[in-house]
Amino acid sequence: MVGRPQPHLAMLEPPVRQLCAYAVITLFVVFFFASGLSYHFSNDDLPFLSAYTTQRFPDFSQYPDLKTLSAHQFPLDDPSRRIIIVGDIHGQYEYFSKLLEKVSYKPASDVLIHVGDIVTKGSHNGSMQVLSYMASHNTTGVRGNHDQKVVEWRAWIHWIRSQRGGPRWLQHLSDAWSAEQADSPNPEAFVESQRKKSKHSHWWKKVPKGWKLFGDHFTIARAMSDAEYEYLRALPLTIHIPNAHAYIVHAGLLPSDPTYTPDHPGQPLATVPRLPKGSERGKTQDETNRILRTLQERAILSNVPQNTVPYNVLNMRSILHGKVHKGSAGKAWSKAWKHDMKRCQGFNQELSVTKPQKELLPCYPSTVIYGHAASRGLDIKRWSIGLDSGCVYDRRLTALVLGSEDALSSSARRDDNRDLNDDDKDREEHVDEPEEDDTDTLEANQHGIPFGDSHHGKIVSVSCAR
Ligand SMILES: *[C@@H]1O[C@H](CO)[C@@H](O)[C@H](O)[C@H]1NC(C)=O
Ligand SMILES: *[C@@H]1O[C@H](CO)[C@@H](O)[C@H](O)[C@H]1NC(C)=O
Repeated sequence: MVGRPQPHLAMLEPPVRQLCAYAVITLFVVFFFASGLSYHFSNDDLPFLSAYTTQRFPDFSQYPDLKTLSAHQFPLDDPSRRIIIVGDIHGQYEYFSKLLEKVSYKPASDVLIHVGDIVTKGSHNGSMQVLSYMASHNTTGVRGNHDQKVVEWRAWIHWIRSQRGGPRWLQHLSDAWSAEQADSPNPEAFVESQRKKSKHSHWWKKVPKGWKLFGDHFTIARAMSDAEYEYLRALPLTIHIPNAHAYIVHAGLLPSDPTYTPDHPGQPLATVPRLPKGSERGKTQDETNRILRTLQERAILSNVPQNTVPYNVLNMRSILHGKVHKGSAGKAWSKAWKHDMKRCQGFNQELSVTKPQKELLPCYPSTVIYGHAASRGLDIKRWSIGLDSGCVYDRRLTALVLGSEDALSSSARRDDNRDLNDDDKDREEHVDEPEEDDTDTLEANQHGIPFGDSHHGKIVSVSCAR
């Protein structure tokens, strides 16, 4: 009598359980599919690690949020301050110091920024020196693909050390490696021989496929201090600077989804963003435009699907068959960027576009400052500035200096839509859309370059030849 409702409940239970079981199975299938796809997507020689982390590892990648710099942090309009943005350093501490000296870097008033890949490829000590400098000064910058791998290794080390027997296993291995180093320090051969010695150790399964124990990234990850790790972990993938209408990113960004035409209504630059309700009240046209531009610039980051994939912004070089590509075959992403930016005519068609264009777009141009593409060298286009001039390959270390008086000299005012490259050769293999004005080559160090809407910058570099 009292227990009446219970049978009723009991009858309900099995179907609910069944449903749950089906849901779990479905989720599993979907999950497997998804992780399989992401693995396929990033199956390159630089192992991209979140593909593994979705399977049976914790999240080693630790991607941070987008960072936005204020007008104070990027003082483009303050004549008493300068912004110095340095290309890929790769542990070349000596040349980094020379470059700071050459630009007469003044820490009290200048803002120093790097575009990522501050470590690896150079000597271990050099990487540690650069990292120490950046971390102790809390220098603004973005993560590079190599910095990313160092972060992932450190997270992995923490994970191993958190497990019973983990610290001992890692110590044992490290001791064996130290003993080995006297002869021929080949990490891969060393790890292979260790694996053979302890074939059945479950620890080997905890090393993600493709990761190189005792390689550059691992040894830096192991050697760095907690503060240095925290510094790398805090580096964003992308910096947005609304007041300069600029981004800083290690490898690149796309202006639009290449699987659609640039004027497709789904593209951020093809649509005037909608203002939040009531936010235009009491604002001048200029103020409203500024809000709209910021919204549109954010939309490039969040609504172009390729830009939301961390691997892409850390590794992209070109677009091939409508897809982001990490090699340089295909069209440089910076050409796609320029192609779209040149068509921006403003929200009210007020920008005078120099020549009649096919697809005018309701947008304002923005600028990407990046590194990563050492094979292309210094690559300055009207709306993108590629600063990796290959210091680690004995070429040059380059900085973009904004806001200095000498950058504003009259000779600097070569305001045109031309580009600046440090070598004449177009290294792209299959250029599917050559642009008539990409062939101009100007002397990099003698003239300022136009930056953003109305500013000028200067390119300063030092030789890294030994
Ligand atoms: C690297 O630095 C350590 C000390 O920090 C030093 O003992 C070692 O000799 C240096 N190695 C090279 C190749 O300069
Ligand atoms: C470094 O600067 C960032 C802001 O850019 C800040 O959030 C962070 O707390 C700083 N870290 C240290 C250790 O001062």
